[in-house]
Amino acid sequence: MAMDLRARKRVLLVMYVAVFGVLTTSTKEATGQTIGPIFIFGDSTMDVGTNNRIENCSARADHPYYGIDFLGSQATGRFSNGLNTADTIARLLGGYDMSPLPYLALVEGGSNFTRGILNGANFASGGAGLAKGIGKQFYGQVVSMEEQVQQFATVQGNITALLGASKGNRLLRKSMYIFSIGSNDLMTYIFTRPMTPEQFVINLTDTYAIHLKNLYHMGARKFAIISIPPIGCCPIARSLSGGSCTDDTNSLARACHTSFESLLNNLSSTLKGFKYSLANTYNMTMSIISKPIGFKNVTSACCGDMTPQGLSDCKEGVHLCETRDDYLFWDAFHPTQKASELAANALVFSQDPDFVSPINFGSLRKA
Ligand SMILES: *[C@@H]1O[C@H](CO)[C@@H](O)[C@H](O)[C@H]1NC(C)=O
Ligand SMILES: *[C@@H]1O[C@H](CO)[C@@H](O)[C@H](O)[C@H]1NC(C)=O
Ligand SMILES: *[C@@H]1O[C@H](CO)[C@@H](O)[C@H](O)[C@H]1NC(C)=O
Ligand SMILES: *[C@@H]1O[C@H](CO)[C@@H](O)[C@H](O)[C@H]1NC(C)=O
Ligand SMILES: *[C@@H]1O[C@H](CO)[C@@H](O)[C@H](O)[C@H]1NC(C)=O
Ligand SMILES: *[C@@H]1O[C@H](CO)[C@@H](O)[C@H](O)[C@H]1NC(C)=O
Ligand SMILES: *[C@@H]1O[C@H](CO)[C@@H](O)[C@H](O)[C@H]1NC(C)=O
Repeated sequence: MAMDLRARKRVLLVMYVAVFGVLTTSTKEATGQTIGPIFIFGDSTMDVGTNNRIENCSARADHPYYGIDFLGSQATGRFSNGLNTADTIARLLGGYDMSPLPYLALVEGGSNFTRGILNGANFASGGAGLAKGIGKQFYGQVVSMEEQVQQFATVQGNITALLGASKGNRLLRKSMYIFSIGSNDLMTYIFTRPMTPEQFVINLTDTYAIHLKNLYHMGARKFAIISIPPIGCCPIARSLSGGSCTDDTNSLARACHTSFESLLNNLSSTLKGFKYSLANTYNMTMSIISKPIGFKNVTSACCGDMTPQGLSDCKEGVHLCETRDDYLFWDAFHPTQKASELAANALVFSQDPDFVSPINFGSLRKA
């Protein structure tokens, strides 16, 4: 794929977003002794406003038409027309209306920080990758996975300071840790190819392992991992390859899934109490693309203009489809709210091991 830098930038923008996650709840249920809060890590697929709060970050969705179907048509930083997958997962798991607030919003909230973190936090940052440098050359500043884990370390310290070591650790063991990251690493690899695909998959898996082990040693036990979707079929990729999916990108996404599966299986047999659920978004998305029940358009973005350089960014003035719910893709990379809901439903409830295994997110929550 020959892509100019602008196209690369847009491709890297894979999945981002932000609103003010207003928590309902049942503080008792979310923070309580029974279930524990939710912590979310990742890229634009999960970002609910992190990047809005980063100076000099150009990976943002805080402008129209983002959020057009959100409460008050607010562009919150979510890379969606409405809610994103993090929101719906949190809601379906119970105790939340939408994703917990961005960590950076809690920090800004000052005196409310302590109460906030007991309801969880969302660290995800659009453009971020598992590897440290991903996204930074294109977007100025994003929060890498390593930095997200460091931010969690602060939260962990604050929680144990607040509740005491024993109660704090118990809460963290019951909490749910949700991850959706890796697409930006894969995109960056495709453009630079500094190693063989096999080496890349091993390197990425080893990098994931470092982050997961660090979190385990801070008390995390319930790991819900969303693997890499078929990014070779997202509208920007299709727009740059004459309409079809790019197979080398997709086959790498599949290889990463297989490798993550092996890693998680190994971690669960070597780390005492390590529990996981692995979602196969590759399969989920492909099953919709090949049998688009409920969608009229699974190839093009609802928001964006076709240009000779490929699909444009989503912003005011570009083409906007009429019926958002008919589309799988909202913009060049990201699913619509409707597609996110469908995916979240499968992650939380599906009994099909082709979609989520060895147990679904709902069972992991209760485990
Ligand atoms: C703290 O929370 C209260 C009540 O939810 C809210 O009114 C107030 O604006 C918050 N303060 C900050 C600094 O966010
Ligand atoms: C902002 O980001 C650009 C790259 O997009 C970089 O060249 C510049 O040094 C950054 N400035 C600051 C203050 O971080
Ligand atoms: C949370 O922990 C950090 C790092 O230890 C500390 O600087 C900060 O003051 C703590 N925040 C609260 C509200 O306790
Ligand atoms: C992955 O590859 C990069 C570049 O060669 C290297 O700097 C990094 O240490 C590797 N990561 C792991 C976990 O092996
Ligand atoms: C998992 O363990 C097996 C057996 O020790 C090993 O061959 C495999 O490479 C490991 N997988 C990962 C991803 O580390
Ligand atoms: C789902 O994923 C598994 C493992 O990658 C694969 O063997 C299977 O064929 C996939 N099924 C569908 C329907 O894509
Ligand atoms: C999908 O939507 C795009 C524009 O949003 C349009 O050009 C294309 O023809 C549509 N495809 C189908 C199959 O409806």
